[in-house]
Amino acid sequence: MTATASPQLTKDRVFGLIQGYRNTSLLRTGIRLGVFDCLAEGPAGAADVAERLRVDPRGTLILLNALVAIGLLELDGEAFSLVSGAEEWLVSGSAGSVANLVHVLASDWEWDALKVLDEAVRRGGTVVDEQAETPDFRYWEDFATYATAATGPTANLIADVLAGWMAARPTVDVLDVACGHGLYGYTLAAREPSVRVCSLDWPHVLDIAADHAERLGVRDRVQPLAGDMFQTPLGGPYDLALVTNVLHHFSEHRATELLSRVAGALKPDGKLVVVGFTVTDEPPDRDPAPYLFSVLMLAWTKAGVGHTEHAYDRMFTSAGFTAAEVYRLPNIPMRVLIADRAHSS
Ligand SMILES: C[S@@+](CC[C@H](N)C(=O)[O-])C[C@H]1O[C@@H](n2cnc3c(N)ncnc32)[C@H](O)[C@@H]1O
Repeated sequence: MTATASPQLTKDRVFGLIQGYRNTSLLRTGIRLGVFDCLAEGPAGAADVAERLRVDPRGTLILLNALVAIGLLELDGEAFSLVSGAEEWLVSGSAGSVANLVHVLASDWEWDALKVLDEAVRRGGTVVDEQAETPDFRYWEDFATYATAATGPTANLIADVLAGWMAARPTVDVLDVACGHGLYGYTLAAREPSVRVCSLDWPHVLDIAADHAERLGVRDRVQPLAGDMFQTPLGGPYDLALVTNVLHHFSEHRATELLSRVAGALKPDGKLVVVGFTVTDEPPDRDPAPYLFSVLMLAWTKAGVGHTEHAYDRMFTSAGFTAAEVYRLPNIPMRVLIADRAHSS
């Protein structure tokens, strides 16, 4: 890694960082209470907004003024309205809306874990009771419900890369390990009628995945498999395994254990697709996303981390796969790694 010149730190920037959580709180409160959806219907006074949202007028006035202060609303006389762009990004019904990602990226569980980050740093792992490795972690329901807003481009990339390979096979049986919303598998099924998906996750998450399968019109080709991905018999053999946004929850050793189980459930000519935050040779100031994501893994798991490309190579090889082809989309921090089952010669 080569050293880069850092910009001069200013007092304003320090103050901004100290108080940054207040902006997050305002944004997520506006979204959770429905302020942006309400004002999408037209400019309105605070009392009117309060009545429509069934919340307190004093609280509403303070919130709306603060949302003006941070540039998310405009005020003309006593009428509040959306700023340009809010209709597109913050109104829940709009096509490009990212509003629901507050439930994923600014969840109560993440806030609770980050409040005690110093203790996690002292101990080198999570110190909260409810975290990513808790079997019935309620956060995964919100993730399965709302993270779909961030999944499309990567799911389509995988479908594009595998299109020829899938078309050449009479049937394509897919095991989606820790499927969450299930969209990676269901996107393949929606593209290719010969795809059948086995969706593995905890039971409370599979109920939500089933709704997404229904919405995409593929539910009749989806088989749910409820259980612990480290314990439950995986069935198979499958043509393809998806292990997306999962391995960074675990140490390299534990992730290799999971990949080895998956390799054992694949056909000899089967393929593996991994999606995850991946650390490259770029330093944190040039490629911040995987390093910042590792903070969440520190706060939320025993030994998870954004693995390096070299670590993924070692995991793939040890678990019985070839080296991966790596794909990346612009402005998306996750990388897609696609490998084949390796054959001993
Ligand atoms: C970050 S989400 C990833 C979901 C989806 N694969 C994606 O890429 O968006 C992690 C998923 O792993 C599931 N999970 C975590 N530990 C698990 C385990 N031991 N067995 C089965 N599923 C597990 C969670 O319920 C959650 O749906």
